[in-house]
Amino acid sequence: MAEVLLKGLTKRYGTHCAVDKMDLSIRDGEFISLLGPSGCGKTTLLRMIAGLESVDEGEVMVGGVLYNRLPAQKRNIAMVFQNYALFPHMTIRNNIIFGLRLKKIIPIKMEQKLTWVINLLHLKGLENRLPRELSGGQRQRVALARALVLDPDVLLLDEPLSNLDAALRETAIEELKNIHRKVGKTILYVTHNQIEAMTMSERIALINGGTLVQYETPKQLYDHPGTLFTAEFIGSPPMNFFRGQILVEEKSAGIESPIGFLRLNKDRTPQILSMHSREVVVGIRPQNIYYVEHVAQRRHTDTNIELAIELVENLGDRSLIVAKSSGGTLVRFMVSREEELCPGKVMSVCVDGRSIHLFDPQTRLNIFSQDGRI
Ligand SMILES: Nc1ncnc2c1ncn2[C@@H]1O[C@H](COP(=O)(O)OP(=O)(O)OP(=O)(O)O)[C@@H](O)[C@H]1O
Ligand SMILES: [Mg+2]
Repeated sequence: MAEVLLKGLTKRYGTHCAVDKMDLSIRDGEFISLLGPSGCGKTTLLRMIAGLESVDEGEVMVGGVLYNRLPAQKRNIAMVFQNYALFPHMTIRNNIIFGLRLKKIIPIKMEQKLTWVINLLHLKGLENRLPRELSGGQRQRVALARALVLDPDVLLLDEPLSNLDAALRETAIEELKNIHRKVGKTILYVTHNQIEAMTMSERIALINGGTLVQYETPKQLYDHPGTLFTAEFIGSPPMNFFRGQILVEEKSAGIESPIGFLRLNKDRTPQILSMHSREVVVGIRPQNIYYVEHVAQRRHTDTNIELAIELVENLGDRSLIVAKSSGGTLVRFMVSREEELCPGKVMSVCVDGRSIHLFDPQTRLNIFSQDGRI
């Protein structure tokens, strides 16, 4: 069992709190991502789990055992560092078996493990080269091989794909997912790239300023951002945000906003009945604003708004439209085709009331959330 449990984990550098009372539980065999902006404490968190950094407060438990005081070499944890850290003067083969030698594994076992990992990571033929004779993607696989060969209970990966180009990154993401399926290790994957986190992991721990903001499945984070930070960080292109005010009248309940009155879907209307005149931040994803040609295609949860197109950005299969409301507020939305949509055109678009997110401007919490959960 390699369940990882972090309780109130804290690390300070002088007066700066790099990791602040972090609670996190990762199930045995689970693949999670630690996602957050640069400097939010991701590497520090991994280094504490690996035993490379002391813990100021709190607990690191792995498989039910308290790891706080266990030296790094006694922890059955392998870490792939942000910069790979391969030994430049050693062949690929020697790089991979370096850790096994330290562990004094008998030669026959060592060869077996080496063959297994070389096949798993498609490194055949590269064994006698030096790291500088490999491409970035191959080096990344060697770093992963060196970690996997140790048969760790927990694998810590610190932005292992950050040096790869877009195409290589795509392949590497698929390979990593496959490897996880095959070896079934508990994996903590650090990234500040939300697409990587969304596509790879079972759950994402979103971190900001050393604290855990939200810990959910990618779908839950995308559909139900618990805070404004989550809403701002997750999703591409980013959400539209406007200041608004809840308006409850006899026949309608919704939000008065700079782009017009926005109706909320009926299911959520009862929840805002007691919030008349409350100030909110409205969040709407560009993907949830639609251009529909025929009235019949509209849903009963939709609100129509009129916008004048300012800019059409071609994204290949879709276009991102930047448009202006009559009051001058900019709105971004997506359309599947760009035909006949050119700057200056005024069009009517629909906002789906089910996909409108509302946040408290002071607490920055989703107003439908209770204790940070929705
Ligand atoms: N040894 C150290 N001494 C002092 N401050 C440090 C040390 N290591 C990290 N920090 C600080 O702690 C904070 C968290 O750093 P950390 O390396 O964990 O961030 P990160 O989330 O991994 O960032 P990135 O995405 O850029 O790799 C930063 O403000 C950093 O400057
Ligand atoms: Mg880092």
